[in-house]
Parts: sequence; structure tokens; C-alpha cells
Amino acid sequence: MKILVIGGGGREHAVIKALKNNKTVEKIYALPGNGGISADAECVAIGAKDIQKIVQFAVENKIDYAVVTPDDPLVLGAVDALNEKGIPCFGPSKSAAIIEGSKAFSKDLMKKYGIPTATYEIFNDEQKAIDYLKTQKFPIVIKADGLALGKGVIIAKDYDEAVDAVKSMMSDKVFGASGDNVVIEEFLVGPEVSVLAFTDGKTVVPMVSSMDHKRAKDNDEGLNTGGMGTVAPNPYYTEDIAKVCMEKIFLPTVNAMNSEGRTFKGCLYFGLMITQNGPKVIEYNCRFGDPETQVVLPLLESDLLTVMQAVTNETLSEVEVKFSQKSACCVIMASDGYPKSYGKGYQIDIPEHLTSSVFVAGATKKDGKLLTSGGRVLGVTAVEDDLQTAVKRAYEKVEQITFENAYYRKDIGQRALKALTEDK
Ligand code: AMP
Ligand code: GLY
Repeated sequence: MKILVIGGGGREHAVIKALKNNKTVEKIYALPGNGGISADAECVAIGAKDIQKIVQFAVENKIDYAVVTPDDPLVLGAVDALNEKGIPCFGPSKSAAIIEGSKAFSKDLMKKYGIPTATYEIFNDEQKAIDYLKTQKFPIVIKADGLALGKGVIIAKDYDEAVDAVKSMMSDKVFGASGDNVVIEEFLVGPEVSVLAFTDGKTVVPMVSSMDHKRAKDNDEGLNTGGMGTVAPNPYYTEDIAKVCMEKIFLPTVNAMNSEGRTFKGCLYFGLMITQNGPKVIEYNCRFGDPETQVVLPLLESDLLTVMQAVTNETLSEVEVKFSQKSACCVIMASDGYPKSYGKGYQIDIPEHLTSSVFVAGATKKDGKLLTSGGRVLGVTAVEDDLQTAVKRAYEKVEQITFENAYYRKDIGQRALKALTEDK
């Protein structure tokens, strides 16, 4: 089979490595991929948002199956466009990807179908939003409606900060048209859990839970990033919580999307907060999380391509989706300065024996050398019998990988380890 994977980050590298385990896979193309992914797939310089060129490439190269991983092409309708040419895909249609593409849509969906989430109001008028803030308690959460590279959420600790956030989104348009509408919602408290789930619109199969570390600095300080590390499973996601989530969140969401005529097929990401009043949805994503995928897929024992195809063919209930009982930790090595400005073009040295544990996110290849090209450069994953060993081992690997200007958090997994000991 010839497979196309759209995207070019660490998540896509993890997906590609997992797809390669299937013996029927002869060739994988990554559009655009990156310098590190080129060790595992043929990278083609077509941007993930260039739907027309993607479709043309897929047709010309007789692609048998396409995996659309990032939010942008999904929200732009890449799956629909490929399907129109008869190319089966993993990923939701444009009409279902709106669950991530519009927070106003997802909040209204949850309200309509009684899915637990923070209380909220949606505004398209700045003055009305500001008037509403006058009646609210703080902190409060302000969200741009549309996609904003994971940066469209501001937690305002008081009225002034909240007004600034609304103005920056609605008048200054810091997130462009994504801020035409804003969601203002209740601030929730509790540990966060990421659950990725395969769904074909009928069956929902949650993957092993995970915990992201979104802030740039240790102790969850510093700016919000795309994610500085992950662990799986997430100790806060107990069996009891998992049951509640399935009954009150996962199945109701998939059924709600069906009722709206927007059947979701692909990987549905539930960003959850475990509050004192039970689990609540913080956000939905219409795709695999990054860097959650870099800990979740290494724990998948079943064949990824088989599961993906079952999602496409709506036969998910017939395949086994098995996860290992082990634990995984992924530490992101970034360029110092990320998520603001940072230097690029530094040579990355990865010892040969570690290449299978490394998922490259931001690197180019030049004259046979791997050079840094992004803020998040790579993720290093360790899978071990227990979380403590996985964390230790991930950091041992990190120390063997070098590039100038490397920065990484030193405390990935510590919160999860603390939760495990508190349990005892
Ligand atoms: P998002 O981009 O939607 O993932 O939001 C980024 C981060 O903001 C989340 O991971 C949470 O830590 C935080 N957040 C979002 N919504 C809320 C909320 N209603 N209450 C508390 N924290 C929130
Ligand atoms: N790690 C969060 C996300 O993928 O959106």
C-alpha cells in the first residue's frame, strides 16, 4: 500500500513510525514532513494546508490511503477533497472537524446535548462582552472562537485583564478572524487529562489516557506552548472516571455529532478537567494531540493501520484495539526562547541506538546533517514497566542528544508521579 500522511511535526513522525509496522505498507509519503521524518518516509514539499496540491499529488501517485493529522487541513476539508477523488482517509470530514474549528459550535453542542463543560456565553459584539464581564467572577476564561495555533485561550485573573483579552481578540484581531466571536467561560479547577479516542461514528474506543505539560517552564510556569512533554497513562484518569467519561461525555458527543448530521470519524481528542463535580470537557480537538501521540502510539500493541482502516470502513467494533499496560514519557527538546523567538540551524546529534525513540518536530536536512528549524525540535519517548522508570529513562536519552541552544523542562512526569504516591 502507498500511504500519504499530511503534516510535519512530532505527532506525524509518531504516526508514520507506527504505520510502518504494517507489512502491507510499501511506501509512506509525508506532506510536507521534515528533516527527521525523511528517515522514515519520503517527504514532499507540499504544505499541509495546500489542499489542491495534496489532492493532485495523491491522485498522481495512486495513493491507497491518506491520514490527515493536523487541524488546519481537516477544518479546510482535506478529507472531503481526497474522498471525492476516491481516496480513503483517516480523519473527520469538514463538517465534523468544526468540533475543533469553532469553539462556539462545540460549546453550543455540549449545552444542547447536556455534555458537562464550563458554563459560558458567546459574543460577537465587544461592548456586550465587556458588559457581561462586569457581572462575572474572576478568574475567567476568554477564548477566540476559531483556530489560533493553541494560543487563543486567555485566563484573565481580574476584570481589567479580561477586558484587555476581549479587546485584543475582537478589535486588535490578534488571532485574525478567529476572534470575530469570543467565548467567555467559567474557570474550572482540577487536574487535566487528555483522552484520544478512535471513533467511526458508531463505536468509541478511547486510547490510553495521557497528561500534557503545556507551559514552557518547570512547575507549570512560563508561557503556554504546543506542549513540552507528556506521560501516559494519566494517574488522575481512574477506572471510575473513565466509566463516567464514556457514559456522560464520549458516547453523548459521538451521538450528538450524528444527530447534527456531522458524523465524526477519526481521532476525537477530549481535553478534560477532573473537577470536584466530575469530569468536564475543556476542549475537543478533531485529531491526534501533539505531543500526546508520542506517548500514546508507542503503547498501542494493535496495528495502527488496521485500526485506522476500520474507522474509515465503520467496522471499528470488529477490530481489537489493545494498549500495553506499560507507561510512557515523552520529553520535548525545544530551542531556547520558544514559544517566542529562537535561533535555528544548529546541528542535531542523535545516537543511532536512540533513533527509534525520537520523534522529530522541527528539523531540516542539509548535506546529510539534521539541523534545528523549529521551536519544538524533537520529542524523546521511553516506554517502561512503570512511570517512574519511563521518566528516568526518557531523561537519560535526552542527555545523549545534543544540539546548541537546546532547552527542555526537567519536571515532565513529576506531577503524575506525585499523584501516584498520594494515592497510596
Ligand atoms: P485549550 O487551548 O482550549 O486547550 O486551552 C488551553 C489551556 O487553558 C487548557 O489546557 C487549560 O489549562 C486552560 N483552560 C481552558 N479552558 C479552561 C477553563 N474553563 N477553566 C480553566 N482552565 C481552562
Ligand atoms: N497537546 C495539545 C494539542 O494537541 O492540542
